[in-house]
Amino acid sequence: MAYVETKKWIVEDVDLNYPQIQEAAMWIRKNEVIAFPTETVYGLGANAFSTEAVAKIFQAKGRPSDNPLIVHIAKLEQLQELVNEIPAHANTLIKAFWPGPLTLVLKKGEGIADNVTAGLSTVGVRMPNHPVALALISEANVPIAAPSANVSGKPSPTTAEHVYDDLAGKIVGIVDGGATGVGVESTVLDCTAEIPMILRPGGVSREQLEKVIGLVAVDPALEEDGQAPKSPGLKYKHYAPKAKLYLVDGSVSFLQKQVISAKEKGKKVGILTTVENDKTYQADVILSCGSTIDLSSVALNLYQVLRKFDEYDLDVIFSETFSEQGVGKAVMNRLTKAAGGDVINE
Ligand code: TXA
Ligand code: MG
Repeated sequence: MAYVETKKWIVEDVDLNYPQIQEAAMWIRKNEVIAFPTETVYGLGANAFSTEAVAKIFQAKGRPSDNPLIVHIAKLEQLQELVNEIPAHANTLIKAFWPGPLTLVLKKGEGIADNVTAGLSTVGVRMPNHPVALALISEANVPIAAPSANVSGKPSPTTAEHVYDDLAGKIVGIVDGGATGVGVESTVLDCTAEIPMILRPGGVSREQLEKVIGLVAVDPALEEDGQAPKSPGLKYKHYAPKAKLYLVDGSVSFLQKQVISAKEKGKKVGILTTVENDKTYQADVILSCGSTIDLSSVALNLYQVLRKFDEYDLDVIFSETFSEQGVGKAVMNRLTKAAGGDVINE
């Protein structure tokens, strides 16, 4: 469906601008799709109980129908309507991390629309830690199914402008609550097995999870090539800028050598680096995404910088690699996907 105008509801303070939230919530109840901010990235939301509404999400994003959506709730009571059982370790995690960037995969209940879970017997649920998201879900009075609000394959949106660039004319409106805070998506954790398993690294690290519930497994497909990921979404190309991206695992001079040889072939070259190194390189475009000693700053800026490269008509981008400690695991997961797995080792 095409929309003549995609509305923008600017919400600077949830209490002062309640009418914007009410209008957006009204569209959710009318089974339309709207974008809204969460603490991780912007989501593209619809009534999780309506097959018709959820179908519009898949259509607007161009999302493959076998890729399930995360359901967002504002109150714990809403979880009862969505899932069959809540194992003890899931309850412990909820107390420790909700609201926050942790999605729990649980056995699904009855009422939820079939296309939300892409036919799976499980559903991913999270309570986002963002006042606008929580107010919107409460006001809509239904759980909201929402993937990231980008066109499939592109980097996830961390501002309302990113959403607008991707989806103007394809959705009713965008609730603009400013830039998001974490920058990478939630951690997706399968809680249906005895030992919970990370299916997608994200805003809550394995280290943080293990402090609360002990041993946490990681989907082997995240560590080794050639294995099918357990989370359907992870098999798709994702987060990619227009120019071909390579990860360069090596020194500053090794990365600079890659740039020189690409320049000799007449290519327009970008470098993705950090504030520690951005003055040491030479290339057509050099963008910093934060500091190597503060990986949360890299997570925060990563998607914005990947989108920024698209403004320069580059042929190739070389990116530094990052430590996989804490949120660095999610950063490297997204960068590796964005590069289609292409790493140049020194
Ligand atoms: O931070 C986030 O998680 C953001 C915000 C908007 O909440 N959402 C997000 O949604 O990243 P999306 O659709 O872009 O990514 C959801 C991922 C996909 O890889 C999907 O396959 C996986 O979670 N997923 C969803 N439900 C699942 C399930 N029942 N079992 C396994 N994986 C699931
Ligand atoms: Mg996504």
